[in-house]
Amino acid sequence: MVCLGNICRSPLAEGILRHKLNELQLDNIIVDSAGTSNYHIGESPDKRSIKNAREHGIDLSSLRARQLISDDFYEFDHIYVMDRSNLANAHAVAPSEELKNKVMLILSLNDDSTYDEVPDPYFGGPDGFELVFNLLDNACNKIIERIKADNND
Ligand code: 4NP
Repeated sequence: MVCLGNICRSPLAEGILRHKLNELQLDNIIVDSAGTSNYHIGESPDKRSIKNAREHGIDLSSLRARQLISDDFYEFDHIYVMDRSNLANAHAVAPSEELKNKVMLILSLNDDSTYDEVPDPYFGGPDGFELVFNLLDNACNKIIERIKADNND
Protein backbone atom coordinates (compact mmCIF):
# COMPACT_ATOMS: atom_id res chain seq x y z
CA MET A 1 0.00 0.00 0.00
CA VAL A 2 1.64 3.21 -1.15
CA CYS A 3 0.82 6.92 -0.82
CA LEU A 4 2.90 10.08 -0.61
CA GLY A 5 3.64 10.47 3.11
CA ASN A 6 2.78 7.00 4.49
CA ILE A 7 0.94 8.68 7.35
CA CYS A 8 -2.67 9.14 6.14
CA ARG A 9 -3.94 6.85 3.36
CA SER A 10 -1.57 3.91 3.06
CA PRO A 11 -1.45 3.13 6.82
CA LEU A 12 -5.27 2.98 6.74
CA ALA A 13 -5.11 0.67 3.72
CA GLU A 14 -2.54 -1.53 5.49
CA GLY A 15 -4.61 -1.68 8.69
CA ILE A 16 -7.87 -2.43 6.89
CA LEU A 17 -6.44 -5.22 4.73
CA ARG A 18 -4.54 -6.85 7.62
CA HIS A 19 -7.69 -6.70 9.78
CA LYS A 20 -9.75 -8.46 7.09
CA LEU A 21 -7.05 -11.08 6.49
CA ASN A 22 -6.82 -11.79 10.23
CA GLU A 23 -10.57 -12.28 10.43
CA LEU A 24 -10.32 -14.81 7.58
CA GLN A 25 -7.24 -16.46 9.15
CA LEU A 26 -5.27 -15.59 6.03
CA ASP A 27 -2.51 -14.09 8.15
CA ASN A 28 0.29 -15.73 6.15
CA ILE A 29 -0.06 -12.87 3.66
CA ILE A 30 2.39 -10.02 4.24
CA VAL A 31 0.84 -6.54 4.14
CA ASP A 32 2.96 -3.43 4.41
CA SER A 33 2.83 0.24 3.45
CA ALA A 34 5.27 2.93 2.37
CA GLY A 35 5.39 6.49 1.09
CA THR A 36 7.03 7.69 -2.09
CA SER A 37 8.42 10.70 -0.19
CA ASN A 38 10.88 10.88 2.68
CA TYR A 39 8.83 13.56 4.48
CA HIS A 40 7.62 11.52 7.45
CA ILE A 41 10.04 8.59 7.78
CA GLY A 42 9.83 7.02 11.26
CA GLU A 43 6.64 8.86 12.23
CA SER A 44 3.39 7.34 13.49
CA PRO A 45 0.34 7.63 11.26
CA ASP A 46 -1.48 10.98 11.31
CA LYS A 47 -3.64 11.29 14.48
CA ARG A 48 -6.73 11.60 12.29
CA SER A 49 -6.01 8.28 10.55
CA ILE A 50 -5.39 6.60 13.91
CA LYS A 51 -8.68 8.00 15.25
CA ASN A 52 -10.67 7.03 12.16
CA ALA A 53 -9.27 3.49 12.17
CA ARG A 54 -9.96 3.15 15.91
CA GLU A 55 -13.60 4.08 15.29
CA HIS A 56 -13.68 1.07 12.95
CA GLY A 57 -11.98 -1.25 15.44
CA ILE A 58 -8.53 -1.11 13.83
CA ASP A 59 -5.32 -0.13 15.67
CA LEU A 60 -2.72 1.75 13.59
CA SER A 61 -0.70 3.11 16.52
CA SER A 62 2.29 0.77 16.13
CA LEU A 63 2.86 1.60 12.43
CA ARG A 64 5.81 3.80 11.40
CA ALA A 65 6.30 5.56 8.09
CA ARG A 66 8.96 4.42 5.67
CA GLN A 67 9.88 5.24 2.09
CA LEU A 68 9.24 2.95 -0.88
CA ILE A 69 12.48 1.33 -2.09
CA SER A 70 13.36 -0.62 -5.22
CA ASP A 71 13.67 -3.88 -3.22
CA ASP A 72 9.93 -3.64 -2.48
CA PHE A 73 9.36 -4.58 -6.12
CA TYR A 74 11.02 -7.96 -5.44
CA GLU A 75 9.48 -8.43 -1.96
CA PHE A 76 5.83 -7.91 -2.87
CA ASP A 77 3.54 -9.42 -5.51
CA HIS A 78 1.27 -6.38 -5.71
CA ILE A 79 1.89 -2.69 -5.08
CA TYR A 80 -1.32 -0.70 -4.68
CA VAL A 81 -1.07 3.09 -4.99
CA MET A 82 -3.63 5.72 -4.01
CA ASP A 83 -3.35 8.20 -6.88
CA ARG A 84 -1.68 8.84 -10.22
CA SER A 85 1.09 10.88 -8.71
CA ASN A 86 1.96 7.89 -6.46
CA LEU A 87 1.83 5.72 -9.61
CA ALA A 88 4.39 7.89 -11.41
CA ASN A 89 6.61 8.11 -8.33
CA ALA A 90 6.46 4.36 -7.73
CA HIS A 91 7.29 3.67 -11.38
CA ALA A 92 10.35 5.88 -10.98
CA VAL A 93 11.61 3.57 -8.18
CA ALA A 94 10.91 0.31 -10.06
CA PRO A 95 14.10 -1.66 -10.80
CA SER A 96 12.88 -2.72 -14.27
CA GLU A 97 10.17 -2.03 -16.83
CA GLU A 98 8.61 -5.43 -16.16
CA LEU A 99 8.35 -4.88 -12.42
CA LYS A 100 6.37 -1.67 -13.03
CA ASN A 101 3.49 -4.03 -13.84
CA LYS A 102 3.17 -4.81 -10.12
CA VAL A 103 1.89 -1.28 -9.48
CA MET A 104 -1.81 -0.50 -9.81
CA LEU A 105 -4.23 2.22 -8.72
CA ILE A 106 -6.04 0.63 -5.80
CA LEU A 107 -9.43 2.05 -6.79
CA SER A 108 -9.26 0.48 -10.23
CA LEU A 109 -10.52 -2.59 -8.33
CA ASN A 110 -13.73 -0.84 -7.20
CA ASP A 111 -16.97 -0.99 -9.20
CA ASP A 112 -17.92 2.55 -8.19
CA SER A 113 -16.42 4.85 -10.81
CA THR A 114 -17.04 8.12 -8.88
CA TYR A 115 -13.49 7.93 -7.53
CA ASP A 116 -10.58 6.44 -9.37
CA GLU A 117 -8.01 7.95 -6.98
CA VAL A 118 -8.04 8.03 -3.16
CA PRO A 119 -8.20 11.76 -2.36
CA ASP A 120 -5.41 13.05 -0.13
CA PRO A 121 -7.11 13.93 3.20
CA TYR A 122 -4.05 15.64 4.69
CA PHE A 123 -5.24 19.24 4.32
CA GLY A 124 -8.95 18.54 4.96
CA GLY A 125 -11.24 17.63 7.86
CA PRO A 126 -12.44 14.36 9.41
CA ASP A 127 -14.98 13.74 6.63
CA GLY A 128 -12.08 13.23 4.25
CA PHE A 129 -10.71 10.44 6.42
CA GLU A 130 -14.07 8.67 6.57
CA LEU A 131 -14.34 8.86 2.77
CA VAL A 132 -10.82 7.43 2.46
CA PHE A 133 -11.75 4.65 4.89
CA ASN A 134 -14.85 3.69 2.89
CA LEU A 135 -13.06 3.73 -0.46
CA LEU A 136 -10.23 1.59 0.93
CA ASP A 137 -12.60 -0.77 2.74
CA ASN A 138 -14.31 -1.55 -0.59
CA ALA A 139 -10.99 -1.92 -2.38
CA CYS A 140 -9.69 -4.29 0.31
CA ASN A 141 -12.76 -6.49 -0.15
CA LYS A 142 -11.80 -6.72 -3.82
CA ILE A 143 -8.20 -7.55 -2.92
CA ILE A 144 -9.46 -10.38 -0.69
CA GLU A 145 -11.52 -11.72 -3.61
CA ARG A 146 -8.35 -11.65 -5.75
CA ILE A 147 -6.37 -13.46 -3.05
CA LYS A 148 -9.04 -16.15 -2.70
CA ALA A 149 -9.16 -16.59 -6.48
CA ASP A 150 -5.33 -16.86 -6.63
CA ASN A 151 -5.36 -19.43 -3.80
CA ASN A 152 -7.85 -21.56 -5.75
CA ASP A 153 -5.69 -21.62 -8.91
P1 4NP B 1 -0.61 10.60 2.68
O1 4NP B 1 -0.96 12.13 3.03
O2 4NP B 1 0.17 10.63 1.38
O3 4NP B 1 -1.95 9.98 2.52
O4 4NP B 1 0.19 10.05 3.84
C1 4NP B 1 0.01 13.13 3.07
C2 4NP B 1 0.80 13.27 4.18
C3 4NP B 1 1.73 14.30 4.23
C4 4NP B 1 1.87 15.17 3.17
C5 4NP B 1 1.07 15.01 2.05
C6 4NP B 1 0.15 13.99 2.00
N1 4NP B 1 2.80 16.23 3.24
O5 4NP B 1 2.87 17.01 2.28
O6 4NP B 1 3.55 16.32 4.22
